[in-house]
Formats: sequence, structure tokens, C-alpha cells
Amino acid sequence: MSADPATEAARRRTFAIISHPDAGKTTLTESLLLAGGAIHLAGEVAARGQARRTTSDWMKIERERGISVSSSVMMFEHDGMVFNLLDTPGHEDFSEDTYRTLTAADSAIMVLDAAKGIEPQTLKLFEVCRLRDIPITTFINKMDREALDPFELLDEIHSKLAMDTAPMYWPAASGQRFAGMLDLTTDEFVPFRRLEHGEEGFAIEARQKRGSEGFLAGVRDDVRAELEETAELARDGLPKFDLTAFREGHLTPVFFGSALRRYGVLELLAGLGANAPPPRPLKAKVKGQETEVTPGRNDVSGFIFKIQANMDPKHRDRVGFFRISSGKFQRGMTLKTAAGKGFNVHNPMMFMAQDREIAQEAFPGDVIGIPSHGGLRVGDSLSQSGDVVFQGIPNFAPEILKRVRVKDPLKQKHLRKALESLGEEGVTQVFKPVHGGDLVVGAVGQLQFEVLDERMKAEYGLEVIFETSPYQAARWISAETRADLEAFIERSASQMAEDVDNAPVFLGKSSWEIGYVQEKNPKIRFSDTKERAA
Ligand code: G4P
Repeated sequence: MSADPATEAARRRTFAIISHPDAGKTTLTESLLLAGGAIHLAGEVAARGQARRTTSDWMKIERERGISVSSSVMMFEHDGMVFNLLDTPGHEDFSEDTYRTLTAADSAIMVLDAAKGIEPQTLKLFEVCRLRDIPITTFINKMDREALDPFELLDEIHSKLAMDTAPMYWPAASGQRFAGMLDLTTDEFVPFRRLEHGEEGFAIEARQKRGSEGFLAGVRDDVRAELEETAELARDGLPKFDLTAFREGHLTPVFFGSALRRYGVLELLAGLGANAPPPRPLKAKVKGQETEVTPGRNDVSGFIFKIQANMDPKHRDRVGFFRISSGKFQRGMTLKTAAGKGFNVHNPMMFMAQDREIAQEAFPGDVIGIPSHGGLRVGDSLSQSGDVVFQGIPNFAPEILKRVRVKDPLKQKHLRKALESLGEEGVTQVFKPVHGGDLVVGAVGQLQFEVLDERMKAEYGLEVIFETSPYQAARWISAETRADLEAFIERSASQMAEDVDNAPVFLGKSSWEIGYVQEKNPKIRFSDTKERAA
């Protein structure tokens, strides 16, 4: 195997799956892992047998609500390509976490239920992808069930997402009549066969070439006629696949199949391998100069897009998920933030489904887990040289603010520590009013408070009470000169707070008030996102 970062980067596809709950994301993930045998690339990995991911108490919420709150990373290899699948939390309240995960993905698969088309959550996640210009591959799932007309589905994608749709395959009916699909590129038919009960693996049938004797053999006459007619219409009337348009986010290639029946999944994976983008050059400041960091650059660099605590039942550890952007990472390397803080990475982890292993080496596009006892933040850029700062991952201004108190007043100090620790992890944002008083926690969605509540109980033994806060909006503030900033902070001290990084935040009683204060203080910038610099 070549160990050159540019070559290794070129065969990597780092992607996320977006979908509305129940469209089949979990089933598709399982099928994809099955296709890859969930095998990790480095030969000499020392498996840490029993150290499975914890199912800590707070994950109860996930189970009860049937949602996945924590995201994980799964790596697998197929057909010479290395795939890194980043699992995004599916609940709408978790848009902030999802957004962060998507910053680490080079493309996304959008899974649609063939009977339902675009659903609200798909739309929302799609918008997040669009913010980052992430190319999207569409997988229309559950073709083994009665589906909407494929033209209707494609038309809906086109009109709701303002994107061209290029079918790569065309289905022969659906539900009970589902017979397979025609490869619109090669004009071969891929027959659908139902897996036998208990059959493992994929229902791979030989492809049937047009003109050959076996073409559409066994397909009912009505289905055959329908396929020939609709496939021709699709070919003539719908856009052809165009790599540039796809990579720029204007066009989505469309695949059909059934994740549950493990049909169409290998075709989807092949499509991803052939067309989805490998890790791309990223804008960064290197030694203060704006530049692009290419994957082939020797200096290992990347950024932390997620922090997760308590992944190991034995220790109260924290793991920073580090997406590599350049260079060849090797175990034992020291990586530094631009502020000079160094992390010696003795035990990097690679994530595979339920297991973790120590990584010996990793390349651009890969995600490794860096264990730490704090000190790492979401959005941190790390590099061997310590010279690289990527554009940060923003924090979003919270839409809900609450005051938080602990039931047992003797535990006030614990509360602060626990909140700060969970705040650093990005569970919720935490603001300390400069005049003292109760801490204020902020979230983009209500569910974040529930997760916070559960985790405070389970991990810190703290019963907390959330109370309505007089504030409804928070803005990070900055100014041209320090004097201007300090003068404003002094004037507005009763409404000033600091976030976990001690950055100044103005708490407003309404967005109207923020607008008003802004008008009165033209020298102060009020920002509803905060990009972490380094
Ligand atoms: P999600 O992660 O997007 O929420 O969806 P998930 O994969 O859990 O799938 C939701 C339901 O849809 C599951 O059924 C799953 O078996 C079913 N499903 C997924 N893909 C297909 C498919 O290609 N064809 C058909 N017919 N069904 C599919 P469930 O009854 O809710 O759960 P389970 O009891 O089967 O696990």
C-alpha cells in the first residue's frame, strides 16, 4: 500500500448520511458496513477487544426517543476505496451538532423513503449541506414497497431543493412488482432478487446486457413495457450526470434500491467511489498567511469537529474527533494548536461501528479520536508545525436561554465545573454573567436541555433546575479597538456575560433590544455566530 498522503487522500470518501427519521439511514448504514466488512485499513492495528463504546445512562434518551444523539464515525474499505461514514444525529433539535459533523464530511448521501419523498427533516439537513456546499448523492430507498412515481420523486427533489436530478439507474416498478433497475450508463439490467430468509450478504444477480438473450428475462410483460417506456423518457427528459455540477452542488445523482433487502447498495457505493469528492484543499491561515492546505502537504493538519465524553467505561475520558486535512498521521506524533498547546497523540483511536482501535497511521479524510482530559475544543485546528489555522467551526447564537440552578445549594461549585465541562464539549453553551449570579445556558434546540439534564444526573450526580431567563438572545461582541470594547462592556455590565472561552457576550432581553443596542453602539460588532480562531 502506498503511504503517500496525496495518493491515500485520493482514494478516500468521507461522507455523512442525511435523512428524515425512518427513511432507512440505520439500515443503509448497516448494509454499507456489511459491504465493507467494516474492515479497517491499517494492517497492524492492535484491537482493544472489550473496550466497546459505552451505553451510558444519558443515552437512554436516544433509545426512548428512537433518535441518535451522539454521532460516531465508521470506517470501511470497499473495492480499493476507503470510506469514512460520519453518523449525524437525526433529530431536528440537534442542528448544531449535525452542522459540526457535516463540516467534516466531503459529501453526503440523502436517503429518501420512496413512498414519501422529501420530508421536513431532509429539507432542513439539506439546507445545512448547502451552507457548506457539500455535494449530495440521492438514494431512493424502500423500492421493495409501493413507491411514488419516480418522475414525481425526482420532480419533487428538483423543485424543493432547487437541484438538478440525474438518475443513474431507472427502476422497474416497485413493491411486489419491483423487478430491478436499468443502469442508464451501461444499459444493463440489474435484476432484483429477494434475499432468502436468513440469507447473509447481498442479492447479487448477474447483470443482463441489452441485446443479450437474457435481457429482462423473467420480468413480467407489463413491468417490462413500463420500464422501457419510462426509462426512455427519463433518458431523454432528465439531466445527464455531470461531475462538475455534482461537485458544485447543483446536481444530484439519483440511485434506487432497498437498504433492507441489500439491493442497490453496492451500486450506490460504486457511485460514491467513482464520483464523490475526495478530501479537498481547505482554506486556512498558515503562519498568518491566507492559503489553501492541500491533502498532499506533508505537515499533518486537521481540526476537531466534535468532542465526546465518557466513551470509555473505565475512565472518564474525553475524545476529540479530529478530521485530518493533510499529511500522513503516525501514532505518537505531537500535534499543536496555533496557540502552541501541544497534544502528544499516543493512543489515537479509529472508529469502526461499535469498536475502537488504536490507529497506527491515518490520512487526509480519516477521523481519529484524540483522548484528552480537557484542553481540546470543537473548532480547534491542530498541526504538526502548529502553524495552521482553519476557518473555524462556528458556534451558533442560542435560540433558547435558561438560568440553571442546582437543587442542593452545597453543590454550587460542582455545577459550575460540570456545566463548563459539558459546555466545552458543546452539549450546550454556557454563559457566566459578569456580575455573578446564576449561570445561563443556551441551546439551539430544546432537546439539548434534556441531554444536559440527563448527563448532569448520570455523570455528575447533580439535580438541576432550569428556570426562565430574562434573556432571549445572545450575541458575541467585538470592536475595532480594545478601548471601545471595554467601554461598552462597562456600560452594559448588567447584561454582559462570558462564554467558556471567556469571550464577551451580550445578553439581550429580545432580539429587538439587540437591534436597538446595536444601533446605539455602531462601533461594536454583534455576531450571531462565533468562529473559534485556534
Ligand atoms: P432511520 O435510521 O432512518 O430512522 O430508519 P431505519 O433504518 O431504522 O428504518 C426504519 C424502518 O424502515 C425500519 O423498520 C426498517 O426495517 C425499514 N426499512 C429500511 N429500509 C427498508 C427497505 O429498503 N425496505 C423496507 N421494506 N423497509 C425498510 P421498522 O419496522 O421501524 O424497524 P425494524 O423493526 O424492522 O427494525
